[in-house]
Amino acid sequence: MTPPLTPDEQLEKMRRDWDERARENARHYVNTEREQWTDEQFIASGEQTVAEEILTDMGNICQGKDPKQMRVIEIGCGAGRVTRALAGVFGEVHAVDISGEMIARARSFLAGRPNAHAYQNNGVDLSVLNPHVADGSADFAFSTIVFQHIPSREVIETYVREVSRLLRPGALFKFQVQGYVEQDGIVYESTPGDTWIGVTFSDEQAVELAQKTGFEPRHRHGANQQYFWLWFFKQ
Ligand SMILES: C[S@@+](CC[C@H](N)C(=O)[O-])C[C@H]1O[C@@H](n2cnc3c(N)ncnc32)[C@H](O)[C@@H]1O
Repeated sequence: MTPPLTPDEQLEKMRRDWDERARENARHYVNTEREQWTDEQFIASGEQTVAEEILTDMGNICQGKDPKQMRVIEIGCGAGRVTRALAGVFGEVHAVDISGEMIARARSFLAGRPNAHAYQNNGVDLSVLNPHVADGSADFAFSTIVFQHIPSREVIETYVREVSRLLRPGALFKFQVQGYVEQDGIVYESTPGDTWIGVTFSDEQAVELAQKTGFEPRHRHGANQQYFWLWFFKQ
């Protein structure tokens, strides 16, 4: 039996695997709907995500604030697909990703969007944002198709705690986790070395995660499905 990875080895594996995927075909691994993406298609795909997940939900997200006055955090920005579209809506976007190769692609894709900033982080916390985003000063945080790839409950919990540190009270963290726990008799369980299938969350585990990290899990959609969306409001 292979020995379990240490937390540092696991982070190193995540970084290495995502760097390799970025070098091989970044846009495909970011959104597997297509093998090849033109710039126009990739831009439209980010705008579609924002139209579906953000523009339909502005009451929860903005809470009466002018979006152009809002500071937004994104975790796992990949090649900047969603970041670019977020920057078209909000005043300031600060995005992180574990992969330096993804961040290099995101920075070039975000040229012409001076209000969007992409940083390589350590894969577990948001300390890289400390010079740019003061504690309690962010108005909204977003993450899509990222935590569903993270094979560590501890890493996800640390990220949620970090978002809680940076958000102002009452603000929303809207994100997605892997919701498959059991499907057609198959129990989904990630293994520590697998950086494609992340740890699953049941509805109870999602509620527990919110309670441990200072959030109210006000809305949840898609429990026991692949895309389990969570609306965590900072208490
Ligand atoms: C499927 S892509 C999605 C990218 C982007 N959210 C989008 O929808 O276009 C997953 C991204 O998560 C990043 N990622 C994976 N593990 C991470 C971690 N521990 N911390 C930060 N980013 C991570 C990967 O490098 C990759 O860019």
